[in-house]
Amino acid sequence: MEEIKVFCPATIANIACGFDVLGLCLDNPGDEMIIKKTSKKGVHITKIEGQDLPLETEKNVAGVAALALLNEYKPIDFGFEIEIYKKIKPGSGIGSSAASAAGVVFGINKLLNNAFNSNDLIKFGMQGEQLASGALHADNVAPALLGGFTLVRSYSPLDVLKLPTPNQLHATVIHPQIEVKTADARSVLKHNVPLKKAIVQWGNVGGLISGLYTNDYDLISRSLHDEIVEPLRSVLIPGFAMVKQASINVGALGSGISGSGPSIFALSKGEETAKLVGKKMSEVYKNFNVDFDVHVSKIKTTGVHEI
Ligand code: HSE
Repeated sequence: MEEIKVFCPATIANIACGFDVLGLCLDNPGDEMIIKKTSKKGVHITKIEGQDLPLETEKNVAGVAALALLNEYKPIDFGFEIEIYKKIKPGSGIGSSAASAAGVVFGINKLLNNAFNSNDLIKFGMQGEQLASGALHADNVAPALLGGFTLVRSYSPLDVLKLPTPNQLHATVIHPQIEVKTADARSVLKHNVPLKKAIVQWGNVGGLISGLYTNDYDLISRSLHDEIVEPLRSVLIPGFAMVKQASINVGALGSGISGSGPSIFALSKGEETAKLVGKKMSEVYKNFNVDFDVHVSKIKTTGVHEI
């Protein structure tokens, strides 16, 4: 195989209670990427459409993730060319950088006859994430690569688990067209968590995971709360509380900040409710002087894939 075209899905990190450890994969939107093996050595990004992002390999998330992978591979006398077709806006909170990182490591690995396992690919992808956000988090890269819901049980050593996806779960995401950089959204966080809040939080993480295993939508709903991060970050997102309340009023199981924002997500049982939630989110946002997109998506149980 000399060339591969891949679909690189958007993701929702944190899922309310699981800051830096929980994530899920969306059906849409997603980027596309073409990766070619070339006789010219090194990694060269030859084209980026859809967004204004750096072509220099070391300054580009996909470039850095590709270099991290090749650094661990035996010396080679060939290289790779990458074309990126971005549909996920950087700074949107639905894993734009993770899609680029996951797509490139998946594609190159295929062209290297699957030299690395998925744990390795997550590690390489995280290097790209670090360039984008200054932090080595895996809660977008893991679901982008594995699909479905994922849990980062441990970062050191890296231990990532794929969790089950209840069949009727759908996500609604509203993306206000303002940029919140992950690095900025991380800088507002406190480094210490009061024990009382931690107790509530890990109860909810356990409850959410149990709900995913048992298809218990009520338990999922009871567990979609964030005591720790949301109160500090929600002030960066106009209309956050109103969107969340409107979603829950029409039947969403829960709602929160998607990744580091500004996107807001809701999870619902069934597509009809998820669409209604999208309609209500739009109605709320029409009162703000901010453009927005709404995405309704099934949870994608397979991650990045060849197209
Ligand atoms: N867990 C990361 C954060 C995800 O919330 O900062 C960034 O998309």
